[in-house]
Amino acid sequence: MINKDKLKKFLFPFEEILKKVYSQAKKLKVKIYLVGGPVRDFLLGKSHFDLDIVVEGDAIGLVREISKRLEIPFQKHHSFGTATLYFKDLKIDFATARKEYYPHWGSLPKVESSSLKEDLFRRDFTINALAISLNEENWGKVIDLYGGLEDLKKRLVRVLHKKSFLEDPTRILRAIRFEQRFTFYIEKDTFKLMKEAIKKKSLNWVHPHRLRDEIILLLKEPYPYQCIKRINKLIGFSFLHPKIKLQKDNFKLFLRIKKAILFYKKEFPYHRNLEDWLLYLIGILINLPKRSILKIMEKFGFKKGERIRVVSTKESISSIKKKLNKKNTPHKIYPLLNSLSFETIIFIYAYYKEKILRKNIKFFLRKLTKIRLKIKGGDLKRLGITPSVLYSKILKKVLYAKIDRNFRTKKEELEEAKKIFKKLYRNYK
Ligand code: CTP
Repeated sequence: MINKDKLKKFLFPFEEILKKVYSQAKKLKVKIYLVGGPVRDFLLGKSHFDLDIVVEGDAIGLVREISKRLEIPFQKHHSFGTATLYFKDLKIDFATARKEYYPHWGSLPKVESSSLKEDLFRRDFTINALAISLNEENWGKVIDLYGGLEDLKKRLVRVLHKKSFLEDPTRILRAIRFEQRFTFYIEKDTFKLMKEAIKKKSLNWVHPHRLRDEIILLLKEPYPYQCIKRINKLIGFSFLHPKIKLQKDNFKLFLRIKKAILFYKKEFPYHRNLEDWLLYLIGILINLPKRSILKIMEKFGFKKGERIRVVSTKESISSIKKKLNKKNTPHKIYPLLNSLSFETIIFIYAYYKEKILRKNIKFFLRKLTKIRLKIKGGDLKRLGITPSVLYSKILKKVLYAKIDRNFRTKKEELEEAKKIFKKLYRNYK
């Protein structure tokens, strides 16, 4: 029996909206259950940010009513019979209880509405196939049809049936994710099935975009290093590209990436948040030629900003070393790093161990990232300088002077602009 007070506490952030959910479900005579990740995490005593609710009945109809009454937005997905309610920064996913058919292995399933029992049976692992009733007559009752409670106790990741990995090979990656996140074990028979699916190269049947989503989730885990190591041992990364071969050096790099991320977060909390996972992805891809990296980014449908950051890291990694690994006047460091993303900069920091290079990067992050001129083109015009291509040249030189000589006032910048103009104008004539 679970502790209902603990469940109430777990659901507390959603209390206001859940009251409406309960009353509408009752009115529409549909049964509702908390399922999947939130149930697993509640039973493990961990927090979980979003809720997943299965409805024995029309989930979209239920959500439409709640959204109307509370005047909050929702999003629906007709082909899956699912809908999501957004409330402040919270999210609740509702799904009509469903059966799934896989027209062929690795494809997206076709769905048909059904009972909670069948809905739980279609799921990946027993620990994710638990439900908790949210209905008045037995609120808080755990529904454990497939041995999930026992597996949670034994710390086991176990599939519900033999075809699970073949029908949805992304579950191979999910098994590793949960195993590493919770320090669970992949159950013996499950492990055999998983190895068989790996041997069949089943990950190659999956649409690359679904694989991308799983890879991102893996790299976003608190211990991406362990996940990468496990994938490398059990599967390898040929499902991303046949030429990826991770060696000892890569793993040393992943450890330095972890350290570099911690350093950045501690030292520069006021800078933009890093997308940590991207640094690990770059670490996996960095030894490939640029054109292969470009192809991977395209095939797996990474976002434009992600592609740019990964590719520009590859482009700058070797050329920047020589320039950055020497004592430089500050204004020489600035253009080397200013056009690069923080992800690229921190990757370079992790990639090279050279002291001077690292010192220059630290200096850039501490002193130069926020540096801006107080003067603009208009100020040059007021000085009597006619607008021309010289403007950008002058402003750039003033900026470099400001960086080297630490100007604090606009007046200093204007004086410098005048001097630079005179010099340039003489040469120009
Ligand atoms: N699920 C599944 N097979 C998949 C993906 C998901 O059976 N390939 C089911 C699982 O029951 C899972 C639920 O859908 O619990 C929700 O999926 P998701 O949000 O990806 O996982 P969570 O278990 O909530 O994990 P996380 O804590 O990482 O969000």
